[in-house]
Amino acid sequence: MTSPAPDPRPEPRSVGVLGGTGPQGLGLARRLAASGLPVVLGSRDPARAAAAAEPLAAAGLPVTGANNAGAAAADVVIVAVPYEGHRDLLASLAPELAGKVVIDCVNPLGFDKQGAYALDVEAGSAALEAQEVLPGSVVVGAFHHMSAVLLSDETVTSIDTDVMVVGEDRSATDLVQALAGRIPGMRGVYSGRLRNARQVEALTANLISVNRRYKAHAGVRVTDI
Ligand SMILES: NC(=O)c1ccc[n+]([C@@H]2O[C@H](COP(=O)([O-])OP(=O)(O)OC[C@H]3O[C@@H](n4cnc5c(N)ncnc54)[C@H](OP(=O)(O)O)[C@@H]3O)[C@@H](O)[C@H]2O)c1
Repeated sequence: MTSPAPDPRPEPRSVGVLGGTGPQGLGLARRLAASGLPVVLGSRDPARAAAAAEPLAAAGLPVTGANNAGAAAADVVIVAVPYEGHRDLLASLAPELAGKVVIDCVNPLGFDKQGAYALDVEAGSAALEAQEVLPGSVVVGAFHHMSAVLLSDETVTSIDTDVMVVGEDRSATDLVQALAGRIPGMRGVYSGRLRNARQVEALTANLISVNRRYKAHAGVRVTDI
C-alpha cells in the first residue's frame, strides 16, 4: 500500500494583517476569515483594531484585533499599509516577522490631475523593499490588484479574478496561491521572482484608470493556464 502524497501546499493556521483597519486589510480579512482562517487585524492603535474586528466577529467570523506586533505573531502576515508607512513599520517588526511568509500587497502610487501613476522606489518595488528590511522573512507579493470595494461587498459572493503572486521561494508562493484560492472565484497565479514585483505593483495604476473610465472594479485574468 502506498502512503498518500504529502500536501504540497501547506496552509497557515492564522493570518495577521498589518494595517488591518483599512479597506484593503479589512476586506482580505473578511474573505479569509469567511474561508475558516482565524485572522488578527493589526493597527497602530489596538482599540481601533478591536473596533474594526467587532462587526466581523459579531457576524460569526473568526476575526480579532491587536496592535501590529500582535498581528505579526500570526503564522502568515499580510502587509496592507500605505506605501508611506511601509518601510518604517516593517523595520520595527523585523524580529516578530522573522521566519515567516510576509505577503506584501502595497502599491507605491502617486496621483495627479492625470490620474494614478507608479512611483519610483529605490529598492525597485515595495516588495523588494520589504525583503530588504526583513532579511529573516520570506516576502511574497500578491493581492495588488484586488479591489477593496469588492472584498468588502457582502453581496459579492464570488470574486472572479486572478491574483499575481511573485516571490523567490516555491513553497511560499504555493502557500500564497493556496490562500488566494480559498476565496471563491479567486485563483493565485505564480508570476515570477520578486524582481518582477515592480510591474505587478505598477499595473495597479492602469487598473485604476480602467476603473475610472468604465466605472468598474477591474481585476486581471491570465489566460491559457
Ligand atoms: N484599497 C484598495 O483597493 C487596494 C487594493 C490593492 C492594494 N492596496 C494596497 O493596500 C494597502 C492598504 O490600502 P488601504 O486602502 O487599506 O490603505 P489605508 O486605508 O490608507 O491604510 C490602511 C491602514 O494602514 C494604517 N496606516 C496608515 N498610515 C500608516 C503609517 N504611516 N504607518 C503605519 N500604518 C499606517 C492605518 O491603520 P491604523 O491607523 O489603524 O494603524 C490604516 O487604516 C496600500 O498599500 C494599497 O496600495 C489597496
